[in-house]
Amino acid sequence: MKTITTGKVKTVYDAGEGKAIIEFRDDITAGDGAKKEAKEGKGSINAEISARLLRFLEEKGVKTHLKEFVRPNKFLVTKVEIIPVEVILRNIATGSLVRRFPFEKGSELNPPIVEFGYKNDDYHDPMLNNDIALALGLCTRDDLTVMRRLALKVNDLLKEFFFERGILLVDFKLEFGKTSDGEIILADEISPDTCRFWDSETREVMDKDRFRKDMGSVIEFYSEVRRRVLS
Ligand code: TMP
Ligand code: ASP
Repeated sequence: MKTITTGKVKTVYDAGEGKAIIEFRDDITAGDGAKKEAKEGKGSINAEISARLLRFLEEKGVKTHLKEFVRPNKFLVTKVEIIPVEVILRNIATGSLVRRFPFEKGSELNPPIVEFGYKNDDYHDPMLNNDIALALGLCTRDDLTVMRRLALKVNDLLKEFFFERGILLVDFKLEFGKTSDGEIILADEISPDTCRFWDSETREVMDKDRFRKDMGSVIEFYSEVRRRVLS
């Protein structure tokens, strides 16, 4: 199969007939790729978590790219043109939000904050406003509106899904793609790489911050997220 793109942790292959295969590799990166390692089993753990979450969202009426989870670490997906805008949703202030703005770390954000970022590692995914996104030709004004609405819906659904499993959905990043008909659907993955998860009781970190901040036990916590997501 022809490779369409090799990302930092996933490889995308052309499967023909408007479909693609996404392979979740064991690589884990931080700092826009500055820090990089392989953790055995991480690819399949993230694939399984993502598959469950994307299926759950589909059941709730959110269209996604996932057609089939090919165990242990591949997705057969609808081929889409990824919109180079990362949609970040925040329920609790932490991470880059508290580095850039005077929010108190750990405080609740109600209503949640939707933030757009430019998907471009060379520029370190800078925050976008609508005018910059339009001037760069990344998408249309309508696309921004649709992505914002879908991200808020995904947040409502996932917040409850995780709450029932003893996990606080702190923040997360979504990517959307356009199908050949021009419809915007949810793409990429939803996993401990792209979300922040805290244990509801202990507030223990269960996501990629363990790797970013050298907290250890990365795979152990990813596995615990998988266990709860599949329960
Ligand atoms: P941030 O606090 O570093 O801006 O991250 C917010 C959320 O988005 C966090 O859950 C991690 C996720 N994220 C990604 O998945 N990929 C990225 O490139 C960035 C910047 C954030
Ligand atoms: N910027 C992303 C993160 O730290 C991914 C990466 O740096 O490789 O989550």
